[in-house]
Amino acid sequence: MGAVVVYYTRKHIGKEGPGLQAEQREPIITLTEVTKVYVIGSTRLRALDGVSLDIYPGEFTCIIGRSGSGKSTLLNMIAGLEKPTKGRIRIAGKQIERMNESQLVQFRLNNVGFVFQSFNLFPQHTALDNVAMPLMYKGVGRMRRQRQARKMLTAVGLKSHMLHKPTQMSGGQQQRVGIARALVTAPKILFADEPTGNLDLKTSREVLRLIRSICRERGTTLIMVTHDPEMAQYADRVVKLLDGKVLENTTNPNPSEITLVKTLEDGTVVELSDEEMQAQYGTHEA
Ligand SMILES: Nc1ncnc2c1ncn2[C@@H]1O[C@H](COP(=O)(O)OP(=O)(O)O)[C@@H](O)[C@H]1O
Ligand SMILES: [Mg+2]
Repeated sequence: MGAVVVYYTRKHIGKEGPGLQAEQREPIITLTEVTKVYVIGSTRLRALDGVSLDIYPGEFTCIIGRSGSGKSTLLNMIAGLEKPTKGRIRIAGKQIERMNESQLVQFRLNNVGFVFQSFNLFPQHTALDNVAMPLMYKGVGRMRRQRQARKMLTAVGLKSHMLHKPTQMSGGQQQRVGIARALVTAPKILFADEPTGNLDLKTSREVLRLIRSICRERGTTLIMVTHDPEMAQYADRVVKLLDGKVLENTTNPNPSEITLVKTLEDGTVVELSDEEMQAQYGTHEA
């Protein structure tokens, strides 16, 4: 993380007082007054309503809000999967709402990765082939694809499951494959839409820890959508949506450590103690 220089301008010494921090870093993502209206028959649904937002490189942003608040719409818009009805979206220096479909495909290949709630793996392919696939679209040769996919699967703890197919793996393992596939192209930004939504608490914590630690290590900007308020404490920035509007946008200078859990014989789930965490994982994350 680069040095953060705090300064104040006249603009900040307004209603919020001089405590407001400004940062020297350029945002990697800037949304300006983004609106998305869906039209179905004669109904117009305002899924996003004038969303403005800055996201800084290397940050872990959590987008929270209840079902239907516009989280997935926002994520799809930032990722260039859907176009806004109004407003501007600038990512890594590019104005993506002006791009045509083939420019967007190229942009996504070069800049972003996705992790989905339902994993979205190809069922007939092995973990290795699933992870190597994005590299094929980038035109990387077969040997190099396989080598990079193996390296990535090892990084997510699946060295011994490279040749397994999705049906031969647990949900947590499938999501690890999903993470490896999303990160194999070394994207600047990783988008995750409810990545732990289909997983139990123990596996959710493990998966989240893994995503956060890899992104921190590589300086990858992580944007995660969740309806689970617990997740907010692990993020650097929390954006709360309600009815398509930003209700809160807060930074968290001290995100919590992600403590893993275990299931006792009687079925109760407890957090691991510091000693158990230390013994299993050392001082660092995953
Ligand atoms: N493709 C679509 N066509 C029409 N309405 C949609 C579409 N996608 C989402 N919506 C509507 O937009 C609102 C926000 O949806 P969504 O972004 O999926 O919410 P969340 O992810 O927070 O649950 C919802 O009312 C949903 O029904
Ligand atoms: Mg959603």
